[in-house]
Amino acid sequence: MRRFLPRSFFNVITLVGACLSLLSLTLILFLTALEAFSGHSKPYIGVVTFVILPVLFLMGAGLILGGAYRAHRRQLKGKPFALNVDLSTPRHRATAGVLGVGGGLFLTVSIFLSFQAYEYTDSPSFCGGTCHPVMEPEETAYQFSPHARVACAQCHIGPGAAWFVRSKLSGTYQVYATLFDKFPRPIPTPIENLRPAQETCEQCHWPKHFLSEKLQVHDYFLGNEANTRWSLHLLLKTGGGNIEVGPTSGIHWHMNIGHKVEYVPIDRQRLVIPWVSSTNPEGQTVVYRTTDASITDEQIAAAPKRRMDCIDCHNRPAHIYRPPSLSVNVSMAVGWIDPQLPFVKSVSVRALRDNYTSKQEAQDGIRSTVEDFYRSYYPALATERASQIERTVKEVQRIYSRNFFPEMKVNWKTFPNHIGHLYSPGCFRCHDGKHQTAEGKVLSKDCNVCHTILAQEITGSPQRLALEGIEYRHPVDIGNAWKEMNCFDCHGKQ
Ligand code: HEC
Ligand code: HEC
Ligand code: HEC
Ligand code: HEC
Ligand code: HEC
Ligand code: HEC
Repeated sequence: MRRFLPRSFFNVITLVGACLSLLSLTLILFLTALEAFSGHSKPYIGVVTFVILPVLFLMGAGLILGGAYRAHRRQLKGKPFALNVDLSTPRHRATAGVLGVGGGLFLTVSIFLSFQAYEYTDSPSFCGGTCHPVMEPEETAYQFSPHARVACAQCHIGPGAAWFVRSKLSGTYQVYATLFDKFPRPIPTPIENLRPAQETCEQCHWPKHFLSEKLQVHDYFLGNEANTRWSLHLLLKTGGGNIEVGPTSGIHWHMNIGHKVEYVPIDRQRLVIPWVSSTNPEGQTVVYRTTDASITDEQIAAAPKRRMDCIDCHNRPAHIYRPPSLSVNVSMAVGWIDPQLPFVKSVSVRALRDNYTSKQEAQDGIRSTVEDFYRSYYPALATERASQIERTVKEVQRIYSRNFFPEMKVNWKTFPNHIGHLYSPGCFRCHDGKHQTAEGKVLSKDCNVCHTILAQEITGSPQRLALEGIEYRHPVDIGNAWKEMNCFDCHGKQ
């Protein structure tokens, strides 16, 4: 038999190295082809394709050369150095046969396993589960969001080849950061390399799609002994931008399709926006600047400009962390927290608001806050209504576990939701009534511009309602403060 390589290559070490290199090369090619044909990129498999397998490949190459070198040295010294394979002997033939079949099986199993790994790295349970506890907040919130059935990668990576390498690199870094505990707490947003909304959200939500007006009914409970109930009916003017389907008006039309809105945020989280411009389809531009004197022109000129897209309003489509007051109102409205218990609203909110350093501490703290309150101030009721109090404790603990993540320092304050304006600046980052053009035109803060306040009702009084909208009445008398200040100036601190 003619040999293409020097005899020193025919030794056990080199042979093992060759198998290793061949196997990793096959798997690299297989995974790369799989990704190329599947149409969408999966970032974390990159750790396997571009880090682990190449390392194995190089190790194999090292073994090939190392083995050959060792054999060469032995040859010079006159020691036995090479494998003596003689396929004409039955024993060698049998061994070669067994090795061949075994190797083939091993390769098939490896390919199958790498396919499984490939599928698995795309699943939400990998993204959320494997990186537990890093991703615990996002994973938990995601499961209770309208996107619970949309894979993480569909928003965070999206289709196309251009993002392939980029997502590979950041995916690899993230795995490294997790393994070596080098990640920040909380994980900072906005995410610098998040794909533009056009390539993610708009793949599923047609931007011109016309959304009709949407009725929202809210129930609120005050923090007094009677937990006075208020309710509010809001008609949200979502609208859209397709003239063939309906009138182009409302929140979506203005912000997205007809108009190009650009803005300058001066903080990283984009919560302070002193400058905003709107350009209509004819190319006319209107610039609004805040009248807040503490922000200088230099600050505005130095900051980067950004074109507004879906994420600037819908920054929490999948990871929504709710403020205590909102969650407690909802639980009381459905009766899971009994509104008949005196002061139950304020006690529940207080229990959620306390600073806890771990989940366990929070669960214990919530129990003692609620139980101690009723034992100290309503001792008779504490025994009579023990089951309602127990139910309240359980419900408040549940609210906590879905919305607060002390280990990752995540809660509604670290990740404010930009839709609305009650608990976070949201729409009022621009629509605070303080943004004006040079001619003095104010960016509207009128309570009936974005929604019509259809009705308001307070326990014991008749409902006030009107189709064209009623004037808002603030649940507690704070004079004109609710008109002059922004809602979140008071409610964002709760
Ligand atoms: C519907 C789209 C969507 C889905 C599905 C989605 N995310 Fe997100 N995610 C976002 C957006 C939007 C942001 C915030 C972007 C910003 O503000 O820059 C975000 C932010 C994050 C952040 C940064 C921290 C934070 O809360 O802002 C992490 C981590 C994260 N997502 C992980 C995940 C994981 C894990 C999954 C799957 C279990 C997932 N995401 C599914 C859209 C999505
Ligand atoms: C893979 C498809 C897909 C992608 C990508 C996607 N969504 Fe969705 N989105 C859905 C589905 C499905 C629903 C649920 C529809 C329903 O409830 O009828 C939904 C619902 C919504 C809703 C309505 C929520 C509610 O309260 O009912 C909003 C707002 C939304 N998506 C915004 C976004 C934004 C912003 C992005 C980009 C970060 C995005 N979506 C990316 C499929 C997607
Ligand atoms: C100016 C801020 C703003 C921008 C920009 C924006 N939206 Fe919205 N969008 C809203 C508001 C406000 C609502 C109604 C709020 C609600 O339903 O809670 C809404 C409602 C929606 C809904 C439907 C919710 C429902 O079931 O009625 C979808 C889907 C949606 N937006 C997707 C998008 C997509 C996709 C983009 C980007 C092309 C986008 N939005 C850009 C503010 C915005
Ligand atoms: C980055 C600044 C910015 C943010 C944040 C913002 N808007 Fe606007 N919005 C504008 C600008 C600028 C205009 C005015 C467009 C014009 O003058 O043509 C506008 C106009 C509107 C209009 C039309 C007003 C009218 O007079 O007809 C509605 C409705 C609206 N926005 C709703 C919202 C809602 C709801 C939110 C929060 C979810 C929001 N906007 C957040 C900048 C913003
Ligand atoms: C720039 C648009 C805009 C303006 C101006 C505006 N709102 Fe709103 N408001 C919204 C949006 C969007 C939501 C819905 C948030 C959501 O879907 O949870 C909202 C929600 C609310 C809610 C319910 C909040 C909750 O989560 O329980 C109240 C109350 C409210 N608005 C009152 C007012 C009052 C009072 C004014 C006038 C001072 C006003 N709004 C002006 C956009 C606006
Ligand atoms: C000067 C501070 C201040 C401002 C500004 C303010 N509020 Fe309030 N608000 C309060 C106080 C105090 C309460 C009573 C809280 C309680 O009893 O638990 C309250 C209660 C409420 C409640 C019912 C309690 C709840 O949260 O469940 C709603 C709803 C509300 N405010 C909406 C608004 C809206 C909308 C705006 C902006 C248009 C606004 N507030 C502006 C101080 C303020």
